[in-house]
Amino acid sequence: MKYIVVLPAAGSGKRMNAGYNKLFLELRGKPILIHTLDVFEQDPNCLAIWLAVKPDERKTIQDMLKQYNITKVKGMPAGGDERQHSVYACILAAGDVSELILVHDAARPFIEPSVITQLTHKAHEMGAAIAGVKAKDTMKRVRNQIIEETLDREQLWMIQTPQAFRANILTIAHQQAAKDGFLGTDESMLVERMNIAVHVVESTYDNVKMTTQEDLLIGEAILQKRQ
Ligand code: C5P
Repeated sequence: MKYIVVLPAAGSGKRMNAGYNKLFLELRGKPILIHTLDVFEQDPNCLAIWLAVKPDERKTIQDMLKQYNITKVKGMPAGGDERQHSVYACILAAGDVSELILVHDAARPFIEPSVITQLTHKAHEMGAAIAGVKAKDTMKRVRNQIIEETLDREQLWMIQTPQAFRANILTIAHQQAAKDGFLGTDESMLVERMNIAVHVVESTYDNVKMTTQEDLLIGEAILQKRQ
């Protein structure tokens, strides 16, 4: 199933404490951003990549794309203050597209191609499909450090990206969110509030988001395992 991918890469990565965009940090001598881009560069079903960037990082990223021979990036619109704004900037830049749109955090370099394939098939069939893994731990709702409720773990999933949608669904959901001033932490939330069913595809625990320093160690371990 053919698709285009939107990669928000305009975050500041404060929790990583790198002093610069965490996506420039290297794993096995290659920037995290390039690890992620490579997955889509190598997938024949990916027709184009739209990358949201900070304007003052555009030149650095352009140089990286050249250095690592990434050819599918069709545009690098300026990201916004929130991740959602960065994603929307890419959707607007991509314009009228008929293919599926996948949204994927640039900070998740270990997404398995087989999960992308499952997501695109499901989204083509049903309209919206997102990656997730079953919760491993016992989950409780806590307020002021006191347990309010133990949740039924069987029903709990930890949601990741990619999230795949028919283009019209994602575009309308973003338009509506912008109009309402609604801010979500993922695309699915915007689609859910349109009362559209979102399907979950089981992903892998490897698909971690590089957020804090400890994640870099996990990242190196994943690369070693895959070698
Ligand atoms: O900060 P966090 O890792 O949760 O962000 C997820 C992804 O969204 C990252 O790839 C980051 O670069 C991107 N992002 C963005 N614009 C923002 C905030 C985050 O493109 N304003």
